[in-house]
Amino acid sequence: MTLLDVAALKRDFPIFHKEMRNGSRLIYLDSGATSQKPQQVLDAERDFYTRHNAAVHRGSHLLAEEASAAYEGARESLAAFIGAQVDELVFTKSATESLNLIAYSFSNTNSGRFALAPGDEILVSEMEHHANLIPWQQLAKRSGATLKWLQVTEDGRLDLSQLDLAINNRTKIVAITHQSNVLGTINPLEEIVARAHSVGALVVLDACQSAPHFTINVQELGVDFLAFSGHKALGPTGIGIFWGRAELLAEMEPFLYGGSMIETVTMESATWAPAPRKFEAGVPNMAQAVGFAAAIDYLSKIGMDRIQSHEEELTRYALEQMQGIKGLRIFGPLDMHNRGGVISFALDQIHPHDAGQVLDQYGIAVRTGHHCAWPLMRKYGVAGTTRASFYLYNDRSDVDALIEGILATQKYFKVN
Ligand code: ALA
Repeated sequence: MTLLDVAALKRDFPIFHKEMRNGSRLIYLDSGATSQKPQQVLDAERDFYTRHNAAVHRGSHLLAEEASAAYEGARESLAAFIGAQVDELVFTKSATESLNLIAYSFSNTNSGRFALAPGDEILVSEMEHHANLIPWQQLAKRSGATLKWLQVTEDGRLDLSQLDLAINNRTKIVAITHQSNVLGTINPLEEIVARAHSVGALVVLDACQSAPHFTINVQELGVDFLAFSGHKALGPTGIGIFWGRAELLAEMEPFLYGGSMIETVTMESATWAPAPRKFEAGVPNMAQAVGFAAAIDYLSKIGMDRIQSHEEELTRYALEQMQGIKGLRIFGPLDMHNRGGVISFALDQIHPHDAGQVLDQYGIAVRTGHHCAWPLMRKYGVAGTTRASFYLYNDRSDVDALIEGILATQKYFKVN
């Protein structure tokens, strides 16, 4: 497998021309929060607005036809990207909206697989980010169901020793992250999905940190729902998707009501269009969907397997270097077995926000704080961490800069 030519790739991303503080170059290690955008994505959005802009699925004029074709073409690209059927792919404004929508569906009916009642259980894990935790907390409150969670081990893996107890005949939903946004851990889905399905539970997969970084195929994963956002995958903000099995989408009640999602309407009532339309009320985020498809096209041309190998190589290198630094603690797996390109760490006697500020002086952008995963911080007994997250546009020189930046931070605070 040929390695990525990062220098050439970077030329596609205008932001890397920006001069950072003190004249330094941009060392962007915050793709776990949001990715940078290639020119191809920026052009696709601009092209939609400058040449095709019209409300999709409404007009009979040329622009409406072109806009609808572009929007539905984007759906086809996204569906192909995750091995789904086109009608199973729903556009939302974000992964957060996707997960909320799915969670809401379970308290929006009194019958069938989506009905929840006291005694039923919802299972999440301690490593969920808030978008895949709070919607389920709220669902438990609305329905009277019980929220349970899988624990995380000291080395940042899911503790599956009690899986048969955790997923039992009362379990209706298992909502789990594919890859932790804090620890980088990639979870063993096969075992979890098999156990969930053996008791008739549905599996909702949060793919925010996985789909942008490695090949996803919903048929192979065997889950029932999957969600991720555009902005973490080189695409625009304001666009996300969720995928659901056709028979589940057919059964699911819609969440937002209005134009485009209907089949017939009288003054007293309405019936719904089939999925995915019934979940896309109103004029959707069309240009963003087109930009998202351009991002997927960009990633696919490079190849998700190459991107994954590149990030693995980089993360392995970073883990080795970081473990050589005194007073640095890494949260999450220390080897590359089932692990992605996210490294959270703490520096003895230095608050993460202070570390982030010093690194920023060298043009190094990292995320600091609780990473929208507060329970995990509590688990590890820290207020927050500093997190470096890698993507296709990073290379070893970025890791080297991070290492130098960390040493400079320790020197600045007179630690070590
Ligand atoms: N977007 C959040 C992150 O930075 C959850 O990981």
